[in-house]
Amino acid sequence: MDKKEIQGKIRKLLKERKAILLAHYYQRDEVQEIADYLGDSLGLSMEAAKTDAAVIVFAGVHFMAESASILSPEKTVLLPRADAGCPLSDMIAVEQLLAAKRQYPDATVVTYINSSAEIKAHSDICCTSANALKVVQSIPGEGPVLMIPDGNLARYVAQRTKKTIIPWEGFCPIHHHLTAAQVSRVKAIHPDAVFAAHPECTFAVLALADFVGSTTAILSYAGEPQVRKLIVGTERGIFCQLQNRYPGKVFIPASEEMLCEDMKHTTLADILVSLAEMKHIVKVPEAVRIPAKRSLDRMLELS
Ligand code: 13P
Repeated sequence: MDKKEIQGKIRKLLKERKAILLAHYYQRDEVQEIADYLGDSLGLSMEAAKTDAAVIVFAGVHFMAESASILSPEKTVLLPRADAGCPLSDMIAVEQLLAAKRQYPDATVVTYINSSAEIKAHSDICCTSANALKVVQSIPGEGPVLMIPDGNLARYVAQRTKKTIIPWEGFCPIHHHLTAAQVSRVKAIHPDAVFAAHPECTFAVLALADFVGSTTAILSYAGEPQVRKLIVGTERGIFCQLQNRYPGKVFIPASEEMLCEDMKHTTLADILVSLAEMKHIVKVPEAVRIPAKRSLDRMLELS
């Protein structure tokens, strides 16, 4: 089957099943092309919470499908590839979080959405890269904030708030391994370009950035008239949208290695099989879902 044919079959099945296809900007181009909604982690969770579709097909990774199931338990949530995970979300276990909570009993736990449902269930409030500072600033009182599991995001927020931030030392391998030396080399080749980075990048890389933001925020920044040539410090999947939206502009990867294999697992064939066979269903048990939803709801109330 060629690309157009399989895309057509998916769109037809989506209609038959009263289903919606949600996709993250890091997905393969051919998946992005047929999504009903394309977004960053915040936008996708907002869409999952409000859609009236019976079935949500999540072209993303496991924690995203789990968040959709937490927010919309009456819907069937399908993750076309059961093995699409997130190494960052695996960098904290429940026992470790419980130990940290004992160590810092007065800390508010702010949990990045890139985390398991169980971790969210033991947290006070969730955040994404789009709203992390806003979430931290919304916390009343002077107490410390334990930010899990992304240490780079925690340090980025710590620089912009008076609150005491305790970072967990997890990281997204794709963003964390981009080095300041790599960025400087690309900047030297393109001295007329500006540099945008995702807050999952290291402190040293963010120090070189003209703009720091979530994938949606980077897309908006790229649209600003003064931005003609942009070095992009996030996963390569975003280039599909950058080039479609702004065909007259030049986009340069900060590193060719910024490719998330987990995000690229999902093929059109996987989506077709998932819809045809209604697999793999992601469902969070109620005992975990209810407290996890509280943490997500607190975040969404701020949006
Ligand atoms: P955003 O979707 O918030 O830009 O974050 C990217 C990411 O970490 C996806 O896993």
